[in-house]
Amino acid sequence: MLSNRATDTEKRKSLHGHWSSRMAFILAVTGSAVGLGNIWKFPYVAGQNGGGAFVLVYLLCVAIIGMPVMMSEILIGRRGRRNPIATMALLGEEEGKSRHWQWVGGMGVIGGILILSYYSVIGGWTLSYVFKSVAGTFSGAGAADVTAARDSFLGNWLAIGSFHTVFMLLTVFVVARGVERGLEQAVRFMVPALLLLMLVLLGYSINSGYFGEGLAFMFTPDFSKLTWDSVLAAMGQAFFTLSIGMGSVMAYGAYLPEETSITKSSAAVAMADTSIAILAGLVIFPLVFANGLDPADGPGLVFITLPLAFGQMSGGVFFSTIFFILLSFAAWTSAISLMEPAVAWVVEHRHKSRELAAMTIGLIIWVLGVGTVLSFNVLSEFKFLKGTIFENLDHLTINIMLPLGGLLIAVFAGWVLCRNSTADELRYAGTAFKLWRVLVRYVAPIGILFVFLKSVGLLPDLS
Ligand code: PFF
Repeated sequence: MLSNRATDTEKRKSLHGHWSSRMAFILAVTGSAVGLGNIWKFPYVAGQNGGGAFVLVYLLCVAIIGMPVMMSEILIGRRGRRNPIATMALLGEEEGKSRHWQWVGGMGVIGGILILSYYSVIGGWTLSYVFKSVAGTFSGAGAADVTAARDSFLGNWLAIGSFHTVFMLLTVFVVARGVERGLEQAVRFMVPALLLLMLVLLGYSINSGYFGEGLAFMFTPDFSKLTWDSVLAAMGQAFFTLSIGMGSVMAYGAYLPEETSITKSSAAVAMADTSIAILAGLVIFPLVFANGLDPADGPGLVFITLPLAFGQMSGGVFFSTIFFILLSFAAWTSAISLMEPAVAWVVEHRHKSRELAAMTIGLIIWVLGVGTVLSFNVLSEFKFLKGTIFENLDHLTINIMLPLGGLLIAVFAGWVLCRNSTADELRYAGTAFKLWRVLVRYVAPIGILFVFLKSVGLLPDLS
């Protein structure tokens, strides 16, 4: 089946072009990975799940499940050089197995659409804080003022809806132009700048007098607070933050130059992404404690703590504005990658232009996003299963679809693709390759399945 793989793949070209260099690829995947998940979501989910023990499980998940799955996605993408649905079908067939693996790609494409429907609402919220910062809304504001500003924004569906619309338009604009143009430049500037600003904020939070409390909250594991639900949340967060389990990275892998090292690129992305999440926690929690706020406050946490800190800093209007611009950029580059798999599929299968594909998918996502917009106001009391529409979408995608996607991708890379195919893509043999193989064949699938079954109560409690 594989004998002439090298020639096959050399002939195989992506319809959408290729990244201009290895660096461009690393930046694009980092742009996808670093986003609201690091700065908005990580601190509040860690807060809701008791801090330290959650963070530890999260780091473990990134290292032993996240990294190998990310490598698998990239190698699958590069081998197939098509959208995730077509790639999985093609490789499944090429290996003498089934085309039905395309359904895993399909779940990823749908996952991206669902995630972006609420991601865009939060992205719009970030954007609105750029304007609030410029207007000096937070200057000298206390905790009560900042909380009131957040609540009045969330209560106004027209305001959130408008910013959701603007955010979606921005995303459609870039995806319609193709990922290579513009995106590479934005990320080249954005990631270092965001890191720098986080360090400035870290200086502030160290001086808040509550840094020790913040550190203790994040790094003292209290396992009595850890439930199987929080382990699942940590695993879901690891997937979400690395953008894996749904085909974004696979789609980006399809545009990867042949000679780029998948292992080194994945390691660079995972390091950058994890550092930014940890840094965000180290900035946010001391401020939470310094201001008597609740670490388990939920999705609005960052929109309270950071404006508070900025409001009390000299030059706060400037820093606040820059920060929310950068965060919007971070969200934007992630949003693009959420949309890319679906758009690539429409272009390849429906033979539509990229512009038309981006606009159509964008419209579908925008409509779905209205459900999240209303979850914070008009429909805030409309609850079923896991809560509001937003909470259900969040749970479905992050706690179910991403881990399930990750599991199936690991099985595909570890069991469906034969040893030679993966060794060939990863360009290595020896111990490192064996380790990767053990992780994707056994550790990741069993780990994901175990956590999954535990959290839905299907495994007995042995303790
Ligand atoms: N990794 C992004 C973040 O942390 O904000 C979110 C994300 C992007 C998830 C792309 C999934 C994805 F495919």
